[in-house]
Amino acid sequence: MKLILLGAPGAGKGTQAEVLAEKFNIPVISTGDIIRNALKQQTELGKQAKDYIDKGLLVPDDVVIEIIRERLKQADCANGYILDGFPRTVPQADALEAMNIDIDKVLAIEVPDEKIIGRISGRRQCGECGATYHNEYKQPKQESICDVCEGTLIQRKDDAPETVKQRLEVYHEQTAPLKAYYDQKGILVLAYGQEEIKDTTKEVFKALGVEA
Ligand code: AP5
Repeated sequence: MKLILLGAPGAGKGTQAEVLAEKFNIPVISTGDIIRNALKQQTELGKQAKDYIDKGLLVPDDVVIEIIRERLKQADCANGYILDGFPRTVPQADALEAMNIDIDKVLAIEVPDEKIIGRISGRRQCGECGATYHNEYKQPKQESICDVCEGTLIQRKDDAPETVKQRLEVYHEQTAPLKAYYDQKGILVLAYGQEEIKDTTKEVFKALGVEA
C-alpha cells in the first residue's frame, strides 16, 4: 500500500497516519517530522528550513523532493508507506511521478477552516519522540507527559494562531489543487473529519474500502 494523505494543517493527517501505519504495518513518512527533527538537531537542512516553518510557509520544493527521494530508498519502504505532508505542491507531485512510484490511493481529510484553529490550539507534541496529543480529544495519561517515552509535551512554534492562518492560506493556494490533480488520475478518495478521532478513523477506513 502506497498512500498519500492530503489535508489542511491540523486536519488530522498525522493522527490517522498512525492508525493506518499500524493497520497496514508500513512506515509513515512525514516531511514535517523530518524537518522538525532537522531543526532540533540544527543540521544544514534545519537551518535552511527554519525561516520558512516559522513563517508558516512551505520549504522550497527542491529541498523537500530530495528528502523524499533519499527516504524512499530505505529498506523499510519496500512494502509500502504512508506519505504525510508530501506532496504539497504540483511540482512535488510531478517529481514523485517522475520517480516512477505507483501510488495506490490519495486520501484527502476534509475539515472546515473554522475547526482548524481549535484543533491546533489544543495540540501538544512530545519534544522528544514527536507523538501528538490534544488537550481535549487525545489526552496523555499523565498531564504534559508523553505516554510513549515520558518526554515533556510542548506546543509547536508554528501552531501560533497567526502562523496557522498563514499555513491555511498556503494550503488553499498550493496544496488543495492536488485534489483535482489526483482526482484526474482516478485515485483520490475523501474522508470527512469528525468531532472524535475514532469516528474520523471509521470514515478513513470506509473511504479506503478496508475493514476496521
Ligand atoms: P506538517 O508537520 O506536515 O504540518 P501540517 O500539514 O500543517 O499538518 P499538521 O501536522 O499541523 O496537522 P495534521 O493534519 O497532521 O493534524 P494532527 O493529526 O496533528 O508541516 C509543517 C511545516 O513543514 C509546513 O508548514 C512547511 O513549512 C514544512 N513542510 C512539511 N512538508 C512540506 C512539503 N512537502 N513541502 C514544503 N514544506 C513542507 O491533528 C491536529 C490536532 O487535532 C492534534 O492535536 C490531534 O490530536 C487533534 N485531532 C486530530 N483528529 C481529530 C478529530 N477528528 N477530532 C478532534 N481532534 C482531532
